[in-house]
Amino acid sequence: MSGTEKGGQFDGAGRIAQICTHLGEAKGAFSDSIIPPLFETVNFYFHRLEEAVAFFAQENKERFYYTRMANPTTQILEKKLAALEKAPSCKCFASGMGAIGAAILGTVKAKDHIVAVRTVYKNTYRILNEITQRYGISVTFVGGHRVEDFEKALRPNTTLFFLESPSSSRYSLQDLAAVADLAKSRGVVTMIDNTIATPYNQNPRDFGIDIVIHSGSKYLNGHGDVLLGAVCADEEILKQIAEREHYLRGNILGPFEAWLALRGLRTFALRMEYHNRVGLEIAAFLENHPKVARVYYPMLASHPQHALAARQMRGAGSLLALELKDGPAKVNSFVNRLRHFRIAASWGGFESLVWYPLTGVHSPAPEWLREHELSPSQVRLFIGLEDVEEIKEDLEQALNG
Ligand SMILES: Cc1ncc(COP(=O)(O)O)c(C=O)c1O
Repeated sequence: MSGTEKGGQFDGAGRIAQICTHLGEAKGAFSDSIIPPLFETVNFYFHRLEEAVAFFAQENKERFYYTRMANPTTQILEKKLAALEKAPSCKCFASGMGAIGAAILGTVKAKDHIVAVRTVYKNTYRILNEITQRYGISVTFVGGHRVEDFEKALRPNTTLFFLESPSSSRYSLQDLAAVADLAKSRGVVTMIDNTIATPYNQNPRDFGIDIVIHSGSKYLNGHGDVLLGAVCADEEILKQIAEREHYLRGNILGPFEAWLALRGLRTFALRMEYHNRVGLEIAAFLENHPKVARVYYPMLASHPQHALAARQMRGAGSLLALELKDGPAKVNSFVNRLRHFRIAASWGGFESLVWYPLTGVHSPAPEWLREHELSPSQVRLFIGLEDVEEIKEDLEQALNG
C-alpha cells in the first residue's frame, strides 16, 4: 500500500477525498496508467492445473478466477466504499435494492423476527412486508423516533433491527448509538440504509451499527447513470451475506458499472460539500416563504430531531420535503411550473429533480399518511449542482404561480 492509500490517516472531508481519489488504485500496477483499467472479462485463467487446485483449496485468495465472484475493477470500488464507511470489507451489488434484499435475507433465517422502521424507502418496505414473509420471517414496523419503539417491539426471536436514518418521507432519524446499544444487549444485529446521509455526512459504524447499506445510484456515483448497491460490514458477516446472496444468485455489479462509479466517486467530497451548503440554503429559503407551510430537512433548527441530527450527522445533503400552504390543490401547478426541476423519482445526481411521493397511491387513509409521514400537500425536492440563485428564482415563480 502506498502512502496515499492509507485512508485512515485523514480526518473528515480530507480523508474522504483521499479515499475517493487514491485508495485501492494500485498505481503503477497497470502500465503506470493514472486511471485503473476496466477489467471487462468473465474469466481469469490459470497457468497450471496445480494453481487452480490451490485456488479452490483457498491457499491463494488473492487471485481472480471468475467475475461473478470477484473482479479487479469492482474490488477497487469495494475497497473505497469499505474505507468510506470505516468497515473492514464491502461487497457491491447490482443495485441498492439488490444490496438491501441480499443483506436482509443473508442475515435472518426462517422463524426470525425483524424490527424495521416504517418510513424506509417504499421498495425496502415491500421486501420486508412481502418477500421476507414468504420465507417465514416476521416483521414489526415501528416509527423509530425513540429507542423505546424498538425495545417495545422486541420478541424472543428478534434477530435484526433495520434502520434508515434519515429515512424517506420526512427525513426522520433514529438514535443510532442508543439503538445499537439496545441491540447489542439483546444479541440483535443492526443494519442501516445510509443512502440519504452518505458516508460524507454520517458513519453509522461510529455509533455501533453492524451493517451499512447503500444505494450508490444516488450521491455516491452522483451522475444518474449507474445502478449500484453496496453492503459494508465485518468480514465474517459479509462473507455470510455474499456466499448466500451475492455470487450464488448472481446479484453482482458489472465491471463497467464499477468503473463508472469509480469515476463518479472521484468528485464525491466536492459534490457533497456543495449539496450540504446549497441544501441548507434552499431549505432556509423555503422555510421563510409565505407559500410554504413546512420544510423537512434535518439541519434546520425547526426539524423535530435537529439536536440528534447535529450529534450524529455532519450535514444533510440537498434532499428535502416541503408542504404547500395552499394545500394539495396547488401541487400540480407548483410541480408543473418548475423549469429547472425534472419530474423524476430518483435523486443524488447532478440535476435538480422534483417528485410527488403520493404518485400512484390511491385515496390513502389519514392514519396511513400519519404513520408513513406523508401528506397530500407534500412535495420532494432534490437540489442538483446548478446555480443556487437560479434555483431560488425558479422556486419563487413556481410557488407564486
Ligand atoms: C433510501 C433508498 N434506499 C435504496 C434505494 C434503492 O436503490 P436502487 O434504485 O439503487 O435499487 C433507494 C432508491 O430510490 C432509496 O431512495
